Amino acid sequence: MSNRITELFSIEYPIIQAGMIWASGWHLASAVSNAGGLGIIGAGSMYPDVLREHIQKCKLATDKPFAVNVPMLYPDIEKLIDIIVNQGVKIVFTSAGNPKTWTSYLKENGIIVVHVVSSVAFALKAEAAGVDAVVAEGFEAGGHNGRDETTSLVLIPSVKEHIKIPLIAAGGIGTGEAMLAAMVLGADAVQIGSRFVASTEASSHALFKTKVVEAKEGDTQLTLKELAPVRLLKNKFYEDVQNGYANRYSPEQLKQLLGRARAKKGMFEGDMEEGELEIGQVSALIHDIKPAVSIIQELMADFKKAIAGIEDLGRF
Ligand SMILES: Cc1cc2nc3c(=O)[nH]c(=O)nc-3n(C[C@H](O)[C@H](O)[C@H](O)COP(=O)(O)O)c2cc1C
Repeated sequence: MSNRITELFSIEYPIIQAGMIWASGWHLASAVSNAGGLGIIGAGSMYPDVLREHIQKCKLATDKPFAVNVPMLYPDIEKLIDIIVNQGVKIVFTSAGNPKTWTSYLKENGIIVVHVVSSVAFALKAEAAGVDAVVAEGFEAGGHNGRDETTSLVLIPSVKEHIKIPLIAAGGIGTGEAMLAAMVLGADAVQIGSRFVASTEASSHALFKTKVVEAKEGDTQLTLKELAPVRLLKNKFYEDVQNGYANRYSPEQLKQLLGRARAKKGMFEGDMEEGELEIGQVSALIHDIKPAVSIIQELMADFKKAIAGIEDLGRF
């Protein structure tokens, strides 16, 4: 099988492992790429030197294509971009910022650029900025998200209706059935985050991975909309944020409560009470921690089984 996205990235399966702070380093990215998907190094939690090391290790671990995700909120972004260009990275996923800022520069350097959006308006901006594809990320997704709360079921066909460039769907996809649904709605591929947090190769702390497996429907919530909306697993830190709202905290007070390094404390260092735990609604459907290659094989097997299964629906 091949389509616009597998051809754009030269990959076997239309599966992209999301760039994720504190979870997707070279180990996960190379494992996904070796398994036929597109692995992404999440640069958002890395100092520039650390990113360089991850890129070099990823190149040693796979000869397949891989990408780097750059959240544009990153304070020292010029340094990250320099490293990406100098290390010869071929694909970059930008997020959380204006796609105009870096797209031309990256493309002049021969890099394929994809931008993450959460609405039709931003998808159109990204297309106008000259990106090669967009990721449309629905309300269900883990991590930072848009303010409009558009769910994947509505966002995918809405974006599809308005853009011509390839479309990658993200948010709430963790099974082959969901992957098929996203593609029926118009996506050329899927970007999967939460499912890969619970992988052997993810750099997230073991306690966090276990929490993801234990999570039930309703255990996550989109919060901190005044700062940057983020979907979190409910824990003591989340309750502290809720108490802040009950006490009418100002955005400044919320910022103080969030403090620094909360995400690292939770997802990387394993403080399940005081740390920030970013995960999607689909955590309710994740029941085991396994190697990335097994996750991809299972996704593809269930995707094919689901295609065979829907023939039955033809009788309506
Ligand atoms: C732990 C975690 C960290 C994330 N970090 C980033 C990030 O650094 N940059 C980014 O663009 N998206 C980030 N995201 C969002 C993912 O890239 C992806 O779009 C999202 O996880 C897809 O939804 P899903 O979790 O339902 O699969 C993160 C998501 C999670 C779960």
